Amino acid sequence: MKVLLTGGAGFIGSHTCVELIESGHEVAIVDNFSNSKPEVLNRIARITGKDPVFFEADVTDKSEMRYIFDNNNFDAVIHFAGFKAVGESVAKPLMYYRNNLDSTITLIEVMQEYGVNNVVFSSSATVYGESNKPPYNENMPTSTCTNPYGTTKLISEQIFTDATVANKDLSVVLLRYFNPIGANPSGLIGEDPAGIPNNLFPYVAKVAGGKLEKLGIFGNDYPTPDGTGIRDYIHVVDLAKGHVKALEYAVAHKGVEAINLGSGKGHSVFEVVQTFMKVNDVAVPYEIKPRRAGDLAESYANAEKAERLLGWKAELSLEDMCRDMWRWQTQNPNGYDTKNQ
Ligand code: UD1
Repeated sequence: MKVLLTGGAGFIGSHTCVELIESGHEVAIVDNFSNSKPEVLNRIARITGKDPVFFEADVTDKSEMRYIFDNNNFDAVIHFAGFKAVGESVAKPLMYYRNNLDSTITLIEVMQEYGVNNVVFSSSATVYGESNKPPYNENMPTSTCTNPYGTTKLISEQIFTDATVANKDLSVVLLRYFNPIGANPSGLIGEDPAGIPNNLFPYVAKVAGGKLEKLGIFGNDYPTPDGTGIRDYIHVVDLAKGHVKALEYAVAHKGVEAINLGSGKGHSVFEVVQTFMKVNDVAVPYEIKPRRAGDLAESYANAEKAERLLGWKAELSLEDMCRDMWRWQTQNPNGYDTKNQ
């Protein structure tokens, strides 16, 4: 299949690009490098032995998107492009709504103009909101999100769903990610957040690597066995393989389907920190801090639907995630910024 990846130079996009190429698919990437670096393309080529076709463009720019679709016959699209920092979305809500919704709408319009009917969308477990209880399953009602980033995922899901009701040829898979972490085992691609990381794993890796002094653990008084927050961490390589399966499903079906991509298991912050230290034989100094606003005590998936519909389940362990994350960090202490390492 010939597949367009919007935001394909990002963390999840680049890992999915590798898995697609390794499964025999032909890949083109469109990315504006707003939160990624050109070096990732060289790394993908080193891992796979193939250069993905690349377009530097903004998905909200319809004329640029038309140019890309004019010159390629895509069978399907995976739509990763979007801003994703929760805190920034609270400070700059309009920027988030403009970018994340405009890109979704523009993409669907251009796909329809060119008769491309299959699409997989990067959604998030954040759409389960605060009123559902884990394990989350896809039949639960989605609910208000605590931040504009989450709301853009919720509204994008609705836009895709409504477009599918109106156009019976469309086939959409909404993938609800839990907490993607880890890196390709080559250590050549991984997560490269700009500035100080907000998410747990990149922060732990930077503390272990001596780039940051100490991890703050946000709350040890949650109603969980050790008092710290529980999340469903999923290795990004497992997640990427889930996209290959979702794409094949989308091409073989019509209509819209929301599917969780999680391991179905929860791990606490303490467990993450201890496992990271143990498997990598490295220290991660930490201190307990107050709870972070908007955090849930626990979040984890019911992962049965993915297994039933896609024949996919997460296979890699928390130990694998810690090991691969550390390899990426030690081989690339400054991420893709190769000049300053
Ligand atoms: C966050 C976003 C979510 C987004 C996801 C992307 C919020 C409220 N949610 O999820 O919308 O889809 O990232 O992966 O931000 N923690 C610490 N210290 C830290 C960082 C985190 O103790 O420095 C704890 C958190 O309290 C939480 C766990 O680690 O219990 C995971 O946090 P994080 O990696 O930020 O992910 P989420 O908050 O689950």
